[in-house]
Amino acid sequence: MLLEVRDLHVEFRTRDGIAQAVNGVSYGVDAGETLAVLGESGSGKSVTAQAVMGILDSPPGRITGGQILFQGRDLLRLKEEERRRIRGAELAMIFQDALSALNPVLTVGDQLGEMFIVHRGMSRKDARAHAVALMDRVHIPGAAHRVRDYPHQFSGGMRQRIMIAMALALEPALIIADEPTTALDVTVQAQVMDLLAELRREYRMGLVLITHDLGVVADVADRIAVMYAGRVVESAPVHDIYKAPAHPYTRGLLDSVPRLDQKGGRLYAIKGLPPNLMAIPSGCAFHPRCPLARDVCRTDVPPLHTVAKNRASACHFWKECLHDRD
Ligand SMILES: Nc1ncnc2c1ncn2[C@@H]1O[C@H](COP(=O)(O)OP(=O)(O)O)[C@@H](O)[C@H]1O
Ligand code: SF4
Ligand SMILES: [Mg+2]
Repeated sequence: MLLEVRDLHVEFRTRDGIAQAVNGVSYGVDAGETLAVLGESGSGKSVTAQAVMGILDSPPGRITGGQILFQGRDLLRLKEEERRRIRGAELAMIFQDALSALNPVLTVGDQLGEMFIVHRGMSRKDARAHAVALMDRVHIPGAAHRVRDYPHQFSGGMRQRIMIAMALALEPALIIADEPTTALDVTVQAQVMDLLAELRREYRMGLVLITHDLGVVADVADRIAVMYAGRVVESAPVHDIYKAPAHPYTRGLLDSVPRLDQKGGRLYAIKGLPPNLMAIPSGCAFHPRCPLARDVCRTDVPPLHTVAKNRASACHFWKECLHDRD
């Protein structure tokens, strides 16, 4: 496995108390595979990614347990210098907000070129040529001219393409894209998703695609890990999850996605609010919102049950959920 996160725990110590942001997350991605990490805002998706990248806001954040195996090595045991080398060259990240992730006072050509100069020891001229080729590769029209422009001179969609180019520059083994299209309008979202899917195939890299939108993952992802209150509550191949979810929370997410074949129907919304991470509910953290909850759910934390080949669910009543699909 290319990346394997094992039983990761992260907490934030703040003046108001300790927020248990990540409470035993486990997930894995193979080379050439796309894993979609799905969950409501605050479920720990970004914090997990930041821990993998080694860019956790620390303090107040602190990793209190677990392992992050990348190409077989535990990243949490490496020296900062070694992690820095891996970051960028082997592991890259695409952020939601390209404008604040890019340097506003450097042209995009200089920013892209810098990667080749620093990591590959290229001359300025060669680096510039590589930057143009990369901009072409992510379908930025007129790349040879636009390489001299600054980030703010590009539209949101084009800026996100530049971020993707930056991430791709050194041909990393794994890219983590954290809500890469959330800030874009719908048509542009689809184009950027298509680009990511295309590049992932071409470069055979692993991709972790973080999103709160189940609608965008069906065509792109191989597997889905659904997160709730800092845990993975269900993980499965995409098609299995669409056919029959094995966790009531996943089912709630699925039922709240607008579907073309159900025009006019009222959308289902999961009742209640995401949990307070300073006081996570006992037993199954989802129990206050779960339509299937029973007494045992309030007292016993459900382990991640293997429900089929490559499928797991952290629900005491996964069988009921799986077979109760109308
Ligand atoms: N810099 C921070 N300082 C304090 N708490 C934080 C910080 N970053 C994240 N958290 C806590 O971690 C929780 C999970 O955050 P995050 O992983 O960003 O959620 P999401 O699933 O929306 O990406 C937040 O709700 C918050 O309680
Ligand atoms: S363990 Fe209980 S509360 Fe949690 S998801 Fe399953 S049925 Fe619902
Ligand atoms: Mg996030």
